[in-house]
Amino acid sequence: MGGVATAQAQDPIVIKFSHVVAENTPKGQGAKMFAEEVKEKLGDRVKVEVYPNSSLYGDGKEMEALLLGDVQMLAPSLAKFEQYSPSLQLYDLPFLFDDIDAVDRFQHSDAGQGLLDSMQDRNIQGLAYWHNGMKQLSANKPLREPKDARGLKFRVQASDVLDEQFKELRAVPRKMSFGEVYQALQTGVVNGQENTWSNIYSQKMHEVQPYITESNHGIIDYMVITNADFWNGLPDDIRSQLEDILVDVTQKVNKQAYDLNQQAKQSIIDAGTSEIIQLTPEEREEWREAVRPVWEKFQDDIGEDLIEAAQGANQ
Ligand code: LMR
Repeated sequence: MGGVATAQAQDPIVIKFSHVVAENTPKGQGAKMFAEEVKEKLGDRVKVEVYPNSSLYGDGKEMEALLLGDVQMLAPSLAKFEQYSPSLQLYDLPFLFDDIDAVDRFQHSDAGQGLLDSMQDRNIQGLAYWHNGMKQLSANKPLREPKDARGLKFRVQASDVLDEQFKELRAVPRKMSFGEVYQALQTGVVNGQENTWSNIYSQKMHEVQPYITESNHGIIDYMVITNADFWNGLPDDIRSQLEDILVDVTQKVNKQAYDLNQQAKQSIIDAGTSEIIQLTPEEREEWREAVRPVWEKFQDDIGEDLIEAAQGANQ
């Protein structure tokens, strides 16, 4: 009896961390670093198993799995929370943030930190924000002016804000899981998409997208989340060590995200598959004007105060 109890007491707590991107991306690296640091510091007590590339769950199913306790940690993009917290739609508003530094400043503010707790009533606890980067627009034809997007089919994440953004352009948005994007582009189910350089490169989207417009029109960032019951049920000392590790890993992820995206951009240039279209400030302004009505449509759901706080982070 005693022996069995001891053996059980020694079983490590397993944290399954599932995500949808490749390992050589900001989130892929972050999940890996988290697992390594937990192993180093809590080796026999906690084991983090990372499942990258939608290998355990695609992004249609991962939230459900978290709520059922089938996985314990995720880092979905902020575009994937609208069902759980309407305020988080903030992050999808086009041209809200000037750059990732502004995103960082907002996320460190009281308003940004408060959003980590905005899904507690759904048993989801936000633990940290991880950066990916600014989104670029890719397509099978050059996109220089907003009217170039008319009638084209674009893959979007599961976000009504992003859906509306493409409708404002008179394009046709299709919500689709990340794991399906490459094939959908290849087979012509969609003609274009929006994503960061690191996601475009690591999914080989550039191989089937001859034009990429460097629009920097929005962001892909993540909230690292856990099942609140699971997290609150952890022994206090373990939970606080995991929190310390996350602070450290978050700093590292956010420090290297920009460089990883720049490297991915360079790799795409080197591959020679796609023309990279640079917009003049005036051309970029036209895109901003074209999608601006999205803000009014969602401002009540999101909250005007929050939108103002986010804008205040641009310097
Ligand atoms: C996407 O679906 O395009 C992204 O959210 C994927 C990711 O997790 O970066």
